[in-house]
Amino acid sequence: MSSNYWSQYWQEGRLSSFGDEPNGNYQGPTKDVWLEFFANIKADDLVLDIATGNGALIALALEAGLGDEKTKFVGVDYAKLKIQNVVLTDNPSVTFYDQTRAEQLPLEESSTSLVVSQYGLEYTDIAKTVAELRRVVRPGGRFQFICHTSDSMVLKINRDILRAARIISEPGGILETARKLVGLLDKTNNKGTPGTEKLRNKLNGLIGKQLDINERAFHSTNFPDFLSRLFGKSRPANRKDMVDQFAEENRGLIERLEDLQHAALSEQRLEALQAHLRNNHFTIQRCEPFFQRTNEVVGVLLRGEAG
Ligand SMILES: C[S@@+](CC[C@H](N)C(=O)[O-])C[C@H]1O[C@@H](n2cnc3c(N)ncnc32)[C@H](O)[C@@H]1O
Repeated sequence: MSSNYWSQYWQEGRLSSFGDEPNGNYQGPTKDVWLEFFANIKADDLVLDIATGNGALIALALEAGLGDEKTKFVGVDYAKLKIQNVVLTDNPSVTFYDQTRAEQLPLEESSTSLVVSQYGLEYTDIAKTVAELRRVVRPGGRFQFICHTSDSMVLKINRDILRAARIISEPGGILETARKLVGLLDKTNNKGTPGTEKLRNKLNGLIGKQLDINERAFHSTNFPDFLSRLFGKSRPANRKDMVDQFAEENRGLIERLEDLQHAALSEQRLEALQAHLRNNHFTIQRCEPFFQRTNEVVGVLLRGEAG
């Protein structure tokens, strides 16, 4: 799978992939379970975060004041990252390796004492990554992973968003109609004509249908926000470029969400992950559904130790 759409996502400067707020970090039970796991980080620990994104997990540990100046934090991700959070950028103990695969880690044998991943491990080639973790994690080293599962609430919500995003970019669909309307309005110097009215009605009809099907999912594509900027009172001069840019962003969203569907662990893949861990001398102490505040399952939590 290509890492371009993840690079695009991280270049927007976001800190986490599923934070409660656009540029915020994980909150609630997710934050709590990570702080509990990180609580007894020691000075000589090396904490490795695989598929780290813009470093959300490492930021959680540092913001909570865990570890000391000798504790090392390493984040690895195959996308191009844009690390901005000052707790990460201003700290000599933190190293990020972007454009680097978890299956081939730039770390010495038995160098790592804690390995973590939030919605990351399942995106990688699990068999290869776990074998690589066996090489870098020292005996007695601990792991905690939270992974997406196919039956989780996150997957359900994002399946609906994926459907809406695909409909927006469909040939002859919503985005194409908006593009035609922009073209005509530019030509007529924003004067309403029967042609623009016809396109406007078509666009409103197509949007109305999607709002009826799943308003929340449709809003999550950011199309309504984009549309109000596009046709807002300020009448931006570069509307064609705005449409092109949105088309690109929507393509990235579709690819990311397809990647998510593909990465999420089915029961079978979860069993395979556990088998890979055991075959590589990891002991699994916990493997349980992970719940969010609302009591909805948002993934699976695995915790254990290297033998
Ligand atoms: C859902 S994001 C999670 C990022 C971060 N852990 C977070 O919670 O914000 C999944 C990440 O996996 C990364 N990824 C996918 N395959 C990878 C691989 N083989 N090696 C390293 N990173 C990978 C993507 O680039 C993306 O940043």
